[in-house]
Amino acid sequence: MDYQFVGNTGVKVSRLAFGTMSFGGDADETTSGQLFSRCRDAGINFFDCANMYQQGKAEEILGKLIAPCREEVIISSKVYFNIGTGENAGGASRRHILQAVEASLRRLKTDRIDFYFIHRFDDRTDLEQTLRALNDLVSQGKILYPMASNFAAWQVSKALGISAIRGFARFAGIQPMYNLLKRQAEVELLPMAQAENLAVFSYSPLAAGILSGKYFKNTAQEVSRLKTNKIYQARYADQGITDTVSHFLQYAESHGYDPASLAVAWVASHPAITAPILGARNLNQLESSLKALEIPMTAEMRAEICAFSPTPAPATDRNEEVSSASFGVR
Ligand SMILES: NC(=O)c1ccc[n+]([C@@H]2O[C@H](COP(=O)([O-])OP(=O)(O)OC[C@H]3O[C@@H](n4cnc5c(N)ncnc54)[C@H](OP(=O)(O)O)[C@@H]3O)[C@@H](O)[C@H]2O)c1
Repeated sequence: MDYQFVGNTGVKVSRLAFGTMSFGGDADETTSGQLFSRCRDAGINFFDCANMYQQGKAEEILGKLIAPCREEVIISSKVYFNIGTGENAGGASRRHILQAVEASLRRLKTDRIDFYFIHRFDDRTDLEQTLRALNDLVSQGKILYPMASNFAAWQVSKALGISAIRGFARFAGIQPMYNLLKRQAEVELLPMAQAENLAVFSYSPLAAGILSGKYFKNTAQEVSRLKTNKIYQARYADQGITDTVSHFLQYAESHGYDPASLAVAWVASHPAITAPILGARNLNQLESSLKALEIPMTAEMRAEICAFSPTPAPATDRNEEVSSASFGVR
């Protein structure tokens, strides 16, 4: 396993991270333990979590698993979405963040969270208030590095500006969605991350399992997220997905790769990506994603795979300048 620096923090994370969204849900406690052990054996040292995953259950399971190796692993959690009851059970207000971090620390049975993400931008709350609360938590040692997930580039940039002016701990990384079917991040987020030296932990490398090919080969198991979860059904209802996936599957087959491995390798090959966050409900699924490490993704292969889905237009909409819009090229 290779390790990469997280921006300029001096902290190193494995080239693949593991997401614990399935812990306590699609993966019961025993399976979660097996997934965790297999990741550790493979050299993965970063485990992504959120307070909302199974309403805190994922944090509880992760907390038990990291107990014997806390100093060796990096964990994250997130705050924003409602967990619990009452008018103030969500958001990025100082009030909610301070409450949520204490609850996450209790569930994780640790005294600090390494990477703490605002799960999505809160357009009802003064950003400076949010950043001041995060900065206070950094001063108290309860979180080490604040980060942002599902933010637009302007929102991250605005936050970085406020943090610089106020002397707050700045966002050290972002967590956007990124896969062959969802390439919007290439336009602004990934170049911004490179320009600002932010780590990028991208999620959903398999597009919720679609890029494994199982929905095209009728090999999908009885229960799967895409069959049952309306949020993901809506997210992947874009036109043209069928064509992209079938070209991608043909390519994977003709090159002798498991499509799930190839999809992860493609994400990881973008120069802005620090580590894709893998998702799995069982060991077999995890194994396919881990095999991404064995694929030598050349620039040529990356370009061939990119051609299966539309290249997003540059932020200026000046298509003739795409080549100079630095899609991930320094
Ligand atoms: N910040 C955010 O807003 C956000 C959002 C989503 C995820 N995340 C993080 O990113 C992690 C990964 O995201 P994700 O779960 O959406 O990733 P993903 O790679 O898009 O999807 C993983 C899912 O695909 C299916 N799958 C995986 N390997 C497979 C294989 N070999 N064959 C067939 N199906 C396979 C499984 O679901 P089924 O068996 O149900 O099909 C698995 O749970 C999460 O655990 C979480 O930590 C963050």
